This record gives sequence, structure tokens and C-alpha cells, in this order.
Amino acid sequence: MPESPEIDAIKQLVDTVHGWLRDAEGKLLYALARNCLGRGVIVEIGSFKGKSTIWLGRGSKAGRGVSVYAIDPHDGSGELKGMYGAVWSFDDFKRNIAAAHVDEIVVPLVQTSEQAARSFEKPVELIFIDGDHEYPRVLLDFQLWFPKVIVGGIMAFHDADAPGPWKVVKDLVIKSDHFRNIRFVDSILVAQKVSQNSLIDRIRNRCTIILRSRYLPDLLRAVGRRLVERGSYGSGSGG
Ligand SMILES: C[S@@+](CC[C@H](N)C(=O)[O-])C[C@H]1O[C@@H](n2cnc3c(N)ncnc32)[C@H](O)[C@@H]1O
Repeated sequence: MPESPEIDAIKQLVDTVHGWLRDAEGKLLYALARNCLGRGVIVEIGSFKGKSTIWLGRGSKAGRGVSVYAIDPHDGSGELKGMYGAVWSFDDFKRNIAAAHVDEIVVPLVQTSEQAARSFEKPVELIFIDGDHEYPRVLLDFQLWFPKVIVGGIMAFHDADAPGPWKVVKDLVIKSDHFRNIRFVDSILVAQKVSQNSLIDRIRNRCTIILRSRYLPDLLRAVGRRLVERGSYGSGSGG
């Protein structure tokens, strides 16, 4: 199916960038970044060669031009080193970001999430977490950055159904009193931070766990999805 010329152009750009993000996930990041109102900045943990950064940057440019802080030490996570040995992704990252014309909006921080969080004082309206996927690292990313996300802001986790991220999102997002409008788009779990969610929010959030079960009959899954997927993601409605 034909997309908008802008989405088609980004797809062509990211096709040439080495990475794991799928187009549906990229389009989600684009929409989330475009929706940002400028009440905080956009943060990405784990940029690698810039595939997800390009979607975020182009989405932000189509919206209010909110800065995208792209945090990555660029020397690879444990998983990447296991696959490729020594890693240095920053040169390719810079080249890809410039080719996509988002270099004026993207601020690279060549640091770990932990190093960057220590001195990062800006409020965060949208954060995309795709760094090291081991449980203790995802947990640390959550603990470091959740307090910096504004009420009404969005947290998105890549590979959320992989064991490490899943334990974090299950315990600290889905079962939490501080999130609503939780949904999966491909492997990304998105959730909106609120000061206190409602009973209905909590029931919907729990449905997210049930809907991931592969043993659920199709009819129940369809009914559950209708219940869960009734939210909007403007950061102004955090309650
Ligand atoms: C799966 S890749 C990210 C892929 C990227 N989002 C994309 O769309 O192609 C994971 C990245 O996380 C980075 N990383 C590993 N540990 C990190 C940490 N503690 N803080 C920030 N980034 C980290 C690695 O260097 C690697 O580039």
C-alpha cells in the first residue's frame, strides 16, 4: 500500500542503515516524535547507526522540532560485541544522520545511559529505550530515566517481549499505577506516564499481558485489543 511521500522517503533512507528496527516500529517512533509538544525533549538510549534516530528526528522535524538526544557509547552492548567483536558505530551514525537531514535536531551524547543521566537535567517528553537488553541494564535504564519523564510523557521500549525488557515492563510499567494507554506495536511497548492511573487503566494495562499470550483464542484477543487500543498519545493529557 502506498504511504505518504515523507514516510516512503524515510523508508528508503533507513533501508540502507544497518539495524534491527522494522518499518512499523519506525513509523510509530515518527508519530510519537511528531506529537511532541515541546514540554520536554526526546531521548533515545541506544542509537547504533541511527536507524531509529532518523525516524525520531524526521518525526520531530514534521512536528515542533523538539531536540532528539541520541545516547550511545557507540562501542556496542554485550550482545553486539558477541556478534561482531569490537564495535565503533559513531562514524556511520554521524554519516547516516547527516544524509537524513536530521543532524541539526539530533544531539549525540557518546556516553552510556548511566553517564548521560547523571548530568541530564532537561525534562523528557518521549524516551525510546533500545540499549543493552540484559535485565539489569534495562532495569537501570528505567530507574535512571523514569523520574525525568514528564507526566503525560511517553516511554517506549524496543524488544519489549524479549526476556530482559519484558521483566522490566511487566513489573514496572504494566503493573504500575503510573502508566496508561499501554500498547504494543510490533516489538515496541509504548506507555504514557501519569501521576496516578485509574482502575479502568489498570484493567486495560493487565489485558496487555493477557493479549501477549500465544494460547489466547482469536475472538478473545480481538475483543481485548478493542478494549486496550482506545487511547491517545498527546503528551498533554497525562492527568
Ligand atoms: C540494538 S542497538 C540499537 C539499535 C538502534 N536503536 C537502531 O534502530 O538501529 C543497541 C545499542 O545500544 C548501545 N548501548 C549498549 N549499552 C548501552 C548503555 N548502557 N547506554 C546507552 N547505549 C548502550 C550499543 O552501543 C548499541 O549501539
